[in-house]
Amino acid sequence: MARSKIALIGSGQIGGTLAHLAGLKELGDVVLFDIAEGTPQGKALDLYQSSPIDGFDSRLSGANDYSAIAGADVVIVTAGVPRKPGMSRDDLLGINLKVMSSVGQGIKENCPDAFVICITNPLDAMVWALQKFSGLPENKVVGMAGVLDSARFRTFLAMEFDVSVEDVTAFVLGGHGDTMVPLTRYSTVAGVPLPDLVKLGWTTQEKLDSIVQRTRDGGAEIVGLLKTGSAFYAPAAAAIQMAESYLKDKKRVLPCAAHLSGQFGVDDLYVGVPVVIGAGGVERIVEIELQGEEKAQFDKSVDAVKGLLDACKSIDTSLA
Ligand code: APR
Repeated sequence: MARSKIALIGSGQIGGTLAHLAGLKELGDVVLFDIAEGTPQGKALDLYQSSPIDGFDSRLSGANDYSAIAGADVVIVTAGVPRKPGMSRDDLLGINLKVMSSVGQGIKENCPDAFVICITNPLDAMVWALQKFSGLPENKVVGMAGVLDSARFRTFLAMEFDVSVEDVTAFVLGGHGDTMVPLTRYSTVAGVPLPDLVKLGWTTQEKLDSIVQRTRDGGAEIVGLLKTGSAFYAPAAAAIQMAESYLKDKKRVLPCAAHLSGQFGVDDLYVGVPVVIGAGGVERIVEIELQGEEKAQFDKSVDAVKGLLDACKSIDTSLA
């Protein structure tokens, strides 16, 4: 069986890390693409030269021409600009929307059968625009946010409880931003829901609330520390988990920004919900019933995404 081909649009901090992880996990051959000349070629060659040491077989190449992504099975998009301290993800909208237009065109012309994972921020708006610009089926274009947000939540919870990160599960819904909705009743330590752990005295409601807030601010915390860019190791790991589920038809149930057409009472909008990712792309959306406050928070998150889509439509009237 031929090796899978993974195209990475954007060869910056996340793009380089994606290439490294895709190689280490032998997910397939990797093409790094970027508008910056030399960057994708240099990173590809450097990573290729690590493969004899780490013992993985993956042909890595770099390109500045979209023809290089022809026939890709998976495309992961990080092209655009990241945040600097003081910026919100939404501040990136104008610049990154134009980038999505050219990326969408490149995908449409060269690999219309690919499974596309968008990472570029503001995520929920960029993945929506990318699907429109590329014209790919809605279940083949998905946004990476929930896996990262829930990984941040899991990390903070494991720190608080002093248990293995592997035994902590977390459930995060909504947009990738200040309005994300971490669902504590569906988040557990080895199956025990967080509210029960509060009752058991493992933590207090106040501590739990501050962990939820730290999760919401998780991206900004890293931007504030790095000062020159935003997080890249965990975002790359999250997207690779999604790509692997598609390529290996694992049917993982992962929180992703998925296209909703009526589910959760939302139409033609991408927002974070649990989905099954397998060989068919987004094969199923897990439509859980939200309770009072959860529903209010989810609706608020959806409204925030709608505001971003309106901004996209006014910048690029072809989207209206
Ligand atoms: N086409 C292809 N690549 C582009 C384009 C374009 N039109 N415009 C910019 N790029 C490239 C840049 O040259 C750069 O190499 O995208 C890359 C972005 O890399 P970084 O600046 O290192 O940003 P990174 O940290 O990887 O984040 C990328 O993901 O999480 C989001 O908010 C983040 O939107 C940002 C994106």
